[in-house]
Amino acid sequence: MTDWSPDSWRTKHAAQAVVYPCQEEGERVVEQLSKLPPLVTSWEVLGLKSQLAEAARGERFLLQGGDCAESFAACDAATIANKIKILLQMSLVLVHGAQRRVVRVGRFAGQYAKPRTEEFETRHGVTLPTYRGDLINRSEFTPEARRPDPQAMLRGYERAALTINFIRALVVGGFVDPHHLDYWNLDWLKDSPMAGEYRRIARTIGDSLQFTESLVGGYPGGIHGIEFFTSHEGLHLPYEQAQTRQVPRQHGWFNLSTHFPWIGMRTADPDGAHVEYFRGIRNPIGVKVGPNLSAECLQRLIQALNPESEPGRLTLIHRFGSERIADRLPRLIEAARSPESPVLWCCDPMHGNTRTTSGGIKTRNFDEILSELDQAFEIHRNHGSRLGGVHVELAGEAVTECVGGARGLREDDLHHAYRSYLDPRLNYEQAMELALFAARKMRALNGQATGAEGFHSPEAHSRR
Ligand code: PEP
Ligand code: CO
Repeated sequence: MTDWSPDSWRTKHAAQAVVYPCQEEGERVVEQLSKLPPLVTSWEVLGLKSQLAEAARGERFLLQGGDCAESFAACDAATIANKIKILLQMSLVLVHGAQRRVVRVGRFAGQYAKPRTEEFETRHGVTLPTYRGDLINRSEFTPEARRPDPQAMLRGYERAALTINFIRALVVGGFVDPHHLDYWNLDWLKDSPMAGEYRRIARTIGDSLQFTESLVGGYPGGIHGIEFFTSHEGLHLPYEQAQTRQVPRQHGWFNLSTHFPWIGMRTADPDGAHVEYFRGIRNPIGVKVGPNLSAECLQRLIQALNPESEPGRLTLIHRFGSERIADRLPRLIEAARSPESPVLWCCDPMHGNTRTTSGGIKTRNFDEILSELDQAFEIHRNHGSRLGGVHVELAGEAVTECVGGARGLREDDLHHAYRSYLDPRLNYEQAMELALFAARKMRALNGQATGAEGFHSPEAHSRR
């Protein structure tokens, strides 16, 4: 690609761009960052791409999840381990339901920059720039905190490195071994209406492992190879550019700050700087697809980002809202159809279902989240396509940010443990409920449903 370089995006308009008070300092930080070691390797990146190609063919299922925004303050052992636990536990339920392997991708180790609808925020007559994620500025409402600080890119890189280092250590150390059920979070099961269903699945998994091991006389190959990949929105292009590298024995360029960067809905302009940057890297990439995207615009995005229809290269993450998906998704499925190389379709049932309560709290209704996911499975199937993944915002703790779920969390419960800086996340139990729902749905779609394990509609969910 001769007309592309890691900084060619600078010739285009960048939506959501950050203007530093001192541009030279920004450039110095980019220079420093570009000399530091990469966070991931090209072979991991290419490995993920081939797994996503398998997901697009229906041989795997993508589970992508984590915080809306990671914060530097929450870069600690418990928070990271809890995120691994919830993703792992969800993935095992999905493997069981879908009867196929699951690709685990965290929204972590770099999910520090946020697009914002409003550029400024006013409190008690004082107006300041909005908080745009720890990679850019800080959330306190003071002029100093809200000033964009280029040094935050270095702090973000360091936090991402600490996070990924700990995750790799957990994986290598056997923390994710499905034999070690005792490491997992089972607190949520204490009073959960889903306890019975989960325990049945866990028992089946345990029995299957034991059976296979008795049969082959040891651990089956690959059981220790449970992998986690990292992802974040590639929003702040100076940070992404700084970690865009060439590597020996590979052609082209890789973004080695993460395995799987995605383009957010607000920056998915085919003529904009983000698409320009993303078209030149070899990573598998995601694009958020929102309700206002036209079929023609989607085709231009696909043409720009995956002109050679490379399998696994492009994941379309749609996020319409439960009321709009039925109207918007079908024509986009048609627009993206490619018999020789299908894109991977992934449903983000979170971002189109955000509401503000009468008390001014941002929340999401769990029924609407399940409804969007349920419709996504059906619409894809009815249009000769396939839903190959789910993308969620979740916490590994018992937060109270989304209403609903089996326990019927209400608006007046939200203040108990509302910790998100930005979007409301599913808590541990809601995330497991979503995984159990998706697993049942896939099992039913696979034609393997039995009376007891058949699919229940969201309405039929047990509720207090
Ligand atoms: C997000 O994923 O946190 C986000 C801002 O999503 P979207 O770009 O789809 O609005
Ligand atoms: Co979000």
